[in-house]
Amino acid sequence: MSKLSQRHLLGIKNLTREDLELIFETADNFKEVINRPIKKVPSLRDVTIANIFFENSTRTRLSFELAEKRLSADVVNFSASNSSVKKGETLLDTVHNILAMKVDMVVMRHASAGAPHFLARHINANIINAGDGTHEHPTQALLDAFSIREKLGAVSGKKIAIIGDILHSRVALSNIFALQKLGAEVMVCAPPTLLPKYISSLGVKVELEVQKALAWCDVANVLRIQLERQQIKYFPSLREYSLYYGINKKMLDDLKKEIVLMHPGPINRGVELSSDAADSHHSIILDQVENGVAVRMAVLYLLAGSTN
Ligand code: CP
Repeated sequence: MSKLSQRHLLGIKNLTREDLELIFETADNFKEVINRPIKKVPSLRDVTIANIFFENSTRTRLSFELAEKRLSADVVNFSASNSSVKKGETLLDTVHNILAMKVDMVVMRHASAGAPHFLARHINANIINAGDGTHEHPTQALLDAFSIREKLGAVSGKKIAIIGDILHSRVALSNIFALQKLGAEVMVCAPPTLLPKYISSLGVKVELEVQKALAWCDVANVLRIQLERQQIKYFPSLREYSLYYGINKKMLDDLKKEIVLMHPGPINRGVELSSDAADSHHSIILDQVENGVAVRMAVLYLLAGSTN
């Protein structure tokens, strides 16, 4: 069996293009599995996985749990909001206690950038980052790139615009790393206050006008305004943001070209996307969600038991 170059999935940054292609080829097989009447395979029958979420999630958490169950793993779920973290227990103590129950793999979402990297230095289990603060969300970028490959036949040579709150987005950073490794051209588009100062050093194009970004790209990956991470005001109001950066169906139809619309979710309908755009024929948003299960099955399968 081919292997990934890493024993953890902490981010896209340290993966090779070969790693990404291996994940996609493995996910192709698992996508076929999850569309069969019997959606389960015994691949991880003796593996126990803990999903530990210190931040809210709908898609990532359910998708990982389904992926684990489709692979026949034993699964335990932990939410910080109803755990002994509320009594003052530390991250490391929490995880040591979970591992004492003989857990092999940990899927973790945490509000602090670097939390999964910290865990990887202190514990023996394979760690998968399910989103660490504003840093990386590697499985989201993998499922996004897999969905572009599925829709357009390849990622290489395609023009992808990431539009929205780039400053607070872990999805943006992981997407930039993944898409560039796969040979795509990447543009970011946002108000200047929602662009990190270092953004040009990542080799991306920068555009401030959403109409120009849409005219340039094959794929628009639209991001949510992350108000929960904003301690100060980055723009006057959501209404004004929507006026200048919101995307509706007419804007997409008027382009007179094929364009693929993506969003990692959750969507703030009426802010970054109108409902008629989100639900239009341009959108592959629910395909992204479906592909998330197959891609996460691939990642779990390839990392399980890995000691690289
Ligand atoms: N895309 C994403 O991470 O969604 P959730 O926050 O619902 O998991």
